[in-house]
Amino acid sequence: MLDFKRNFSLKPFNTFGLDEKAHYFITISEEAQLEELVEHPIFKENKVLWLGGGSNMLLTQAFDGLVVKLEFKGKELEFINDEVARLWSAGGENWHDLVQWTIAQGLGGLENLSLIPGNVGTAPIQNIGAYGVELKDHFESLRAFDLQEKRWVNFDREACQFGYRQSIFKSSAKGRYVVSGVGFRLKRRNYDLRTEYGAIGAKLEALDLEPSIENIAKAVIEIRQSKLPDPQEIGNSGSFFKNPIVSNQDHQRLKGEHPDLVAYPAGEGKMKLAAGWLIERAGWKGYRKGDAGVHNNQALVLVNYGKARGAEIKALAEAIQESVYRTFAVALEAEVNII
Ligand code: EPU
Repeated sequence: MLDFKRNFSLKPFNTFGLDEKAHYFITISEEAQLEELVEHPIFKENKVLWLGGGSNMLLTQAFDGLVVKLEFKGKELEFINDEVARLWSAGGENWHDLVQWTIAQGLGGLENLSLIPGNVGTAPIQNIGAYGVELKDHFESLRAFDLQEKRWVNFDREACQFGYRQSIFKSSAKGRYVVSGVGFRLKRRNYDLRTEYGAIGAKLEALDLEPSIENIAKAVIEIRQSKLPDPQEIGNSGSFFKNPIVSNQDHQRLKGEHPDLVAYPAGEGKMKLAAGWLIERAGWKGYRKGDAGVHNNQALVLVNYGKARGAEIKALAEAIQESVYRTFAVALEAEVNII
């Protein structure tokens, strides 16, 4: 039985805490329900919004269609040998809880990705990343429903076409697949600890901790908590924009004008600029208009202090884009999906 709700508030289901309504809403927790759903007239006659953890979208209006909340649950662990394990997690598991569970099992790989909001199933879509590690580094495969062919398919890492905050599910195959579960390859020993990202090494030293999977997770959690607002307290979606990638030539020009510009190599002939730095330098850090604002500790994060509407946050984002373009001639692209 499919249980559709009508005129349903999405406030608890988006980390910006925006109170917009869905015309129809349904929760799906089993693959068979999804197969049934795609044959249903409400599905066929409406535009559809697929929802995981709701941590990467900005709702700017009521959704005049069907919102499908994906809640597949469960995980399975398989030891391949004494060094490598394979973890399978259903897409509706909470990402941070899964990461903490792997650490408790002594499995290494995901520790740098602690405290990223959202669900497991949406993590591959934008290839989540933090502190020198990306999901793709430990990804093995995923299972998805192909809405076009109406069948279940598997993707290996290559087929996902991962890039910086990018995958096939955000580009050429956008809207075509619904992820039900993700497989990871993790280490049981001989961990590949990644502490080279400046802030982590410094934090471990400040806490007087040896590098280990537990301690890296602890350091990442402390850093994130000190810089990033907790969506339970202040509505937000993490980084609102991507860090822009520019040519070496543009980087040289900017560096000449702004010697303290923050940038990292991003492949041949390219540099990735810290969008947070650009936004701060354009004067926006800590800005607030009504309840829409730019976070005090990290200018890349836009926040809802309470009653902001999605449209106000969108207007703020556009004002920031214009201002950064005027100041640096660099275009900022939203990382968050604007709906
Ligand atoms: N910076 C500023 N002002 C700011 C913010 C940052 O000058 O207001 C400078 C920092 O001083 C630093 C540089 O910009 O030199 C980079 O800042 P940070 O280390 O905070 O990382 P980020 O590039 O702003 C990215 C990810 C984050 C991830 C961190 C850590 C993107 C879009 N964002 O942010 O991901 O946690 O690196 O690895 O790539 C997210 O996607 O939601 C997210 C939080």
